[in-house]
Amino acid sequence: MMTELMEIITYPAPVLKAPAESVKKVTNELQTLIDRMAATMYAAPGIGLAANQVGVAKRVMTYDLCPGTEDQELSVLINPEIVSGAGEFVYEEACLSVLDYSADVTRMQRICVRGLDRNGTPVEIEAEDLLAVCLQHEIDHLNGILFIDHISSLKRALYKKRLRKILKTQPSN
Ligand code: NI
Repeated sequence: MMTELMEIITYPAPVLKAPAESVKKVTNELQTLIDRMAATMYAAPGIGLAANQVGVAKRVMTYDLCPGTEDQELSVLINPEIVSGAGEFVYEEACLSVLDYSADVTRMQRICVRGLDRNGTPVEIEAEDLLAVCLQHEIDHLNGILFIDHISSLKRALYKKRLRKILKTQPSN
């Protein structure tokens, strides 16, 4: 049976601005959510997806830096938290929830993240460079923060103006 894809919610939808809630218990329902999120992420395609991007305000994220390659391997984090970080790293980010835009964002170059894997087992991840960017970007999502919240207010205003035009020319659904 094909896993049913989920609709990716895009800015400026309010669910993207609200902090997601901690997962209390790893249930079968949560496994289904994770499978659907993974399928949605790979189909997009994207390297990371937070549950609130598909309208579920829970602290769950999927990621894979090598989608569609022979190195493809799904990773899942539940209730992820950055416990330490250092350095600076600039990367041109984009987001499945931010239509038609990318911009340089400065983040920590290396971080340590703690959370649970999909079985509820505690994990600790030492990440640097692109993986560190991906984890910071997705954990931001779970806190109601988008990468465009990290750019200058002028750049953001210009993007909002352009987005309004894009949305006007799209059929509403
Ligand atoms: Ni994103």
